[in-house]
Amino acid sequence: MVPRVDVTVDSPRRLYLVGFMGAGKSTVGRTLADRLGWDFVELDAEIEGVAGRTIPAIFREEGEPAFRDLEHRVLRRVSRREPPCVVACGGGVPLSERNRRILMETGLPVHLMVRPETVLERLDQDGSRPLLPGGDRREERLKRLWQERQDAYNAFDRSVVTDDRSVDDVVDRVLALLDGIGT
Ligand code: S3P
Repeated sequence: MVPRVDVTVDSPRRLYLVGFMGAGKSTVGRTLADRLGWDFVELDAEIEGVAGRTIPAIFREEGEPAFRDLEHRVLRRVSRREPPCVVACGGGVPLSERNRRILMETGLPVHLMVRPETVLERLDQDGSRPLLPGGDRREERLKRLWQERQDAYNAFDRSVVTDDRSVDDVVDRVLALLDGIGT
């Protein structure tokens, strides 16, 4: 059994995991929430619940701008929910200024870093991301998207590299970041 970790953070006990698709936000987030004894919230699942449809269906039927609007509204709602909780954010959440403001003002955002090569390996057969369709331009598309997003992800000063690391290792490193706060 994995020991619980007590965190003495006075500042909002709401941890946001951000980063590119395939960074491991959901997997790490679940384990992290278990270790802390906090709730786990998966933003994409919340969006699907509100919309009554899957993310690919929302993209297909309403387009990306409508998805981003919904994503923002759901993020705002989650940011007002009673802490403590760990929130795994979809990869596009930090792209807008209004979302970055929510993340920074209502919790502690941590960037899970991942190289594009690792994303390709981790999401090899995964066809569930509308922004990363299969086909021979997948790699090129992924690398372009990854590059375009680095400034937005780098807006957060706490980050953990996830490449070549186990989930437990990444979780320990995120917990170490929390440890220095409010203690
Ligand atoms: C997106 C990432 C996805 C999901 C949607 C858009 C993005 O979440 O929100 O497909 O723009 O990077 P994950 O990062 O959990 O894959």
